[in-house]
Amino acid sequence: MDSNPTYQGIDIDADTALALLEWQGEMGVDEPILDMPVDRFEIAARPKAETAPPLPLELQAPTPARPVADPAEDAAAHVATAEALAAGAETLDQLAAAQEGFDGIELKKGARNFCFADGNPGARVLILGEAPGDEEDRQGRPFVGRAGQLLDRMFDAIGLSRQAVDAEKAIYITNVLTWRPPGNRDPSPEEIAVSMPFVRRHIELAAPDLIVLMGNIPCQAALGRRGILRLRGNWTEAFGRPALPMTHPAYLLRNAPAKREAWADLLSLSARLDGQGR
Ligand code: URA
Repeated sequence: MDSNPTYQGIDIDADTALALLEWQGEMGVDEPILDMPVDRFEIAARPKAETAPPLPLELQAPTPARPVADPAEDAAAHVATAEALAAGAETLDQLAAAQEGFDGIELKKGARNFCFADGNPGARVLILGEAPGDEEDRQGRPFVGRAGQLLDRMFDAIGLSRQAVDAEKAIYITNVLTWRPPGNRDPSPEEIAVSMPFVRRHIELAAPDLIVLMGNIPCQAALGRRGILRLRGNWTEAFGRPALPMTHPAYLLRNAPAKREAWADLLSLSARLDGQGR
C-alpha cells in the first residue's frame, strides 16, 4: 500500500513532507487552521437543514447586549499586568519565570521557545537586540544565528565575550522581544509596549555600566527614535545609563562597507570601558 502523502498531486516521502513543513514555518506560517482539509464546495452544496420557523417578534427573547472588546483597553490591561509582574521580580530568574508565564502577548502562541538572555548577567556591557529569529527561536537563546556569530566576532575583537566569567571581559545579551515574530517581521508598537516593563526591570536587575542598542528596534523602544544610520556612534542615555546605538550585525552581513563604522563604534565602546571615552 502506498502510504506516502501527496503534495499538489505528487507523491512525497516523509522527509520531504517535513522539509516542506519547516519551510512553511520559516516563511512565517505559524498556525494550522484545522487538522483535516475542509471541502467548502461540498458544504455549500448540502441541502439546508430543516429549521423551525422563527417565533413572532413579541415572543422572542431580547438579544443580550454582548460586551464589545476594546483592543486599546485590552492592550492597556496587558501592559499593566506586565508592569506588575516585572515589578514583583527580585532576581533575573524570577523575572524570566514571570515573563515566560505572561500571556498578554500573542507571539507566545506561535513561538517555539522563550528567549530571555545569554552571556554573563554581571557583565559591564549589556547588548539590547531586537527579537529572536529562527535559530534563536529553536535554541531559546538570543543572537545564536548568523548575525549572532558576527556579533560574537565583533565583541571578541575588543576582548569581550558572552562566555567570559570575568565581568570586565563579558557581555550580557537580551532582546526587546523574547518571542519570535512570525516571518521575522518587525515587532508592532503594541508588542514593544507590552515587553518594555520586562526590559526595564531586566536592565535594572542586571545593572550594566553601558548599554549597546543594537539596531532600530531597541532605539525605537528605548529612545523613541528610529534611523540607526544617523543614531549610530553617538552616545546617548537609555534606561538611566550611557547607551551607544550601533548598526545591527544582520545589516552588516548585507552591507560589508558599514563594518568600518561599526568598528569605530566598538573602539568607542572599548575606550569608554577603559574610562577614556566621552
Ligand atoms: N537579531 C536580534 O536582534 N536578536 C537576536 O536574538 C537575533 C537576531
